[in-house]
Amino acid sequence: MATKLLVINGPNLNLLGEREPGIYGTDSLKSIESRLLELAKEFSVNAEFFQSNNEGDLVERVHQAFRDGVNFIVINPGAYTHTSIALRDAFLGTKIPFIEIHISNVYKREEFRHKSYLSDIALGVISGLGTLGYELAFKAAITEIQKTKNL
Ligand code: DQA
Repeated sequence: MATKLLVINGPNLNLLGEREPGIYGTDSLKSIESRLLELAKEFSVNAEFFQSNNEGDLVERVHQAFRDGVNFIVINPGAYTHTSIALRDAFLGTKIPFIEIHISNVYKREEFRHKSYLSDIALGVISGLGTLGYELAFKAAITEIQKTKNL
């Protein structure tokens, strides 16, 4: 069966490129997704993308991923990182492995951004490497899936 990867972006990440470029850079979400599609092609995996500004829709998407047999999720939960027990429970409930990514270094920013409801149940966390973080997380996800498939 083909490997399925899902990349989820939370609230306000649809504004990438226009939103606080000093913090988040000038890449649009579309350009990030097309870079990831190139990687998906290179490694012969299926990649899907989802962005929502609504917490419930993000939770539903994780449930859908479970039903679809998605192997791995890369997620930038945006501000829901710091607030969403519902998203945490979705990952705990479905047991889909995931990497949490942040464009900015959340530990250099306001204290309320230092708390994540996901980090301790994620395979890993990338924070502060700009939009390159998505590609690094994507590659790490592929490596991880290959490892578990070879077990
Ligand atoms: C973010 C960091 C969050 O604190 C913030 O709410 C975001 C983006 C990041 O990618 O750096 O929306 O997840």
